[in-house]
Order: sequence, then C-alpha cells, then structure tokens
Amino acid sequence: MMDTTIYYFTGTGNSLFIAREIARHLPGETTLVPIPALMNRGGEMKAPPGRVGFAFPVYAGGPPLMVADFARRIDLSAAERTFAVVTMGSAGDAAYWRLKGILEERGYTLDAAYTVAMPNNYILLSDVYPEVQEQKVIAAGKKEAETIAADIAAGNRTFTKGPRVLNFATGLLYPFFAREARRHAKKFYADDKCNGCGTCEEVCPTKNISGAGMRPVWGTNCEACMACIHFCPRNAIQWGRKTAAKGRYHHPEVSVDDMMVQSGRATEREDERESAP
Ligand SMILES: Cc1cc2nc3c(=O)[nH]c(=O)nc-3n(C[C@H](O)[C@H](O)[C@H](O)COP(=O)(O)O)c2cc1C
Ligand code: SF4
Ligand code: SF4
Repeated sequence: MMDTTIYYFTGTGNSLFIAREIARHLPGETTLVPIPALMNRGGEMKAPPGRVGFAFPVYAGGPPLMVADFARRIDLSAAERTFAVVTMGSAGDAAYWRLKGILEERGYTLDAAYTVAMPNNYILLSDVYPEVQEQKVIAAGKKEAETIAADIAAGNRTFTKGPRVLNFATGLLYPFFAREARRHAKKFYADDKCNGCGTCEEVCPTKNISGAGMRPVWGTNCEACMACIHFCPRNAIQWGRKTAAKGRYHHPEVSVDDMMVQSGRATEREDERESAP
C-alpha cells in the first residue's frame, strides 16, 4: 500500500481541513507537512517515496507565492504519483494549471488535480458567507474530500474542471497579484480594539508580524493569506477602509496552535523550552 505526503499551506484553515479529511480517507499512512515551516527553515527539501500531494488555496488565479516557490525547490525525484488539491471560493483551476507548469518546467508531472469550494475568505472584495451558507459549504467540502481521496487511491488522472471563463479571467490577475502580494501588508493596521494579545503574530505563516505585546507591526513579506485579519479575537485588524464592516472567518476546526505548527513557531517554542536552563 502506497503512503502519502501532503504538503499544505493555509491562511484560514480551509486547505488544512481538506488535507486532513483526505488523509483520513486515504488508504496507507498519510503525513501532513506544512510548507511554511519548511520554507521558513530553509535547507534541502526532498519528498519521500510514495504519493505526494499539494493542498493550498487559490489566490487571484494562482497558488500562494510561497507554494509556487516551494514547487520550484522541492525534490520530487522519489515521488511515485503527484496530485494537487486547491481550495477556492468559486474558481481554482488556474492555480493547479500554474503549479503543473512549474513542476513540468522542472521535469516532473502533476498526475491529478482537484478543486474544492470552501468559504471565501477574501473580505477585501466581498463579505464572509452567512453562517448557514458557511456550514453548508464546509459540509459539502468535507464530503468532496472523501470522494477525492477515493479518486487519488484509485490512481485516476482526474483534473477537476470548473467554470472556464471565470478561471481564465482570474488567471489573468495572477501576474498583478504576484507583483503586489508581498506589499499587501502595507494597508493592514490594528484599531483601538487591539489589546496586544499577539495572536496575529502567532498565526502568520511568514512571520511577517511583530509587536511583542503591543499593537502589531507588519513587515514586507506578506502572502496576503488573511490569517491575521481573520484570527484576531477582537476583530481589531483592518485593511484600509474595506474591512471594518465585514465579518471574519476561519475554519472552526483549525486553531491558533495549528497555525503555529504550520509556520514552525510551535517547534521553535518547544526547542526553546527544552534548552532553557
Ligand atoms: C488573496 C486572496 C485571493 C483569492 N483569490 C481567489 C480566486 O481567485 N478565486 C477563488 O475562487 N477564491 C479566491 N480566494 C478565496 C480562497 O481561495 C478560499 O477562501 C480558500 O478556501 C482559502 O483557503 P485557506 O483557508 O486554506 O487559506 C482568494 C483568497 C485570498 C486571500
Ligand atoms: S490579534 Fe488582534 S488584538 Fe491581538 S495583538 Fe493582533 S491586532 Fe491586537
Ligand atoms: S501579514 Fe497577515 S496576510 Fe500577510 S502573511 Fe502574515 S498573516 Fe498572512
């Protein structure tokens, strides 16, 4: 029985949740590996033998910049099959097209790719879903993950196809996104509700936020993942003038601790505790 490694990136938990669900239903052993922890640590990255998956959200018709960089670095020479799972609001195909392109340029193949609709977290454009819709979409995504796991296990070469025109149109936005995303954080600020709890710092996958018990300060290494704005327990983070009246969302089964595992902070804290006198 083939084992599986799923490399994941998540801003608000959807992609981690779907990766976990797929892992739960796949035969053999499945290991979930956070891309941010690997990328933040640097060094050599080699996938083990077996199936290798990538789970991540679509951003403006492409993968998060860190996922694209990871795809340019990871050694897949031992991988037996590869697949991608893209979580999205409504159109995610263009994100796996791009991932496939990156892997093919390096002489690798992407054997299958799936998109899964989950609650949209991009509150700079639209609001969060009403609660009933949110629950419905999450439940449908959970079911979809089971179907995807069966398809992966069967070794099918499936490439889920969503709305072609929308995928094409959002795909056109990606070069702009890729240029601007890192500077996204310029417009973030914490309003008077901030109590300096540090959660925003803890959930950031790129360690782009500092503050040490004070109001947060954003750096220039943003992925536009929206983790900070959605996980703030006091809804104190705003982006320009677009978010004060908007709701906040993160997947109910993904915690701040999970986000700290993702960035590698959890391991660093453990190491610090162990080496303390
Ligand atoms: C910067 C950004 C851009 C996004 N662009 C798209 C998009 O082009 N198409 C789409 O369907 N959803 C888009 N979304 C929505 C997310 O892909 C979707 O909510 C995803 O499930 C979030 O996954 P996560 O919780 O793992 O971060 C975007 C979200 C963000 C933050
Ligand atoms: S998570 Fe919110 S309340 Fe806590 S420090 Fe950050 S902005 Fe302030
Ligand atoms: S600063 Fe906020 S949006 Fe940017 S990478 Fe960190 S958590 Fe994500």
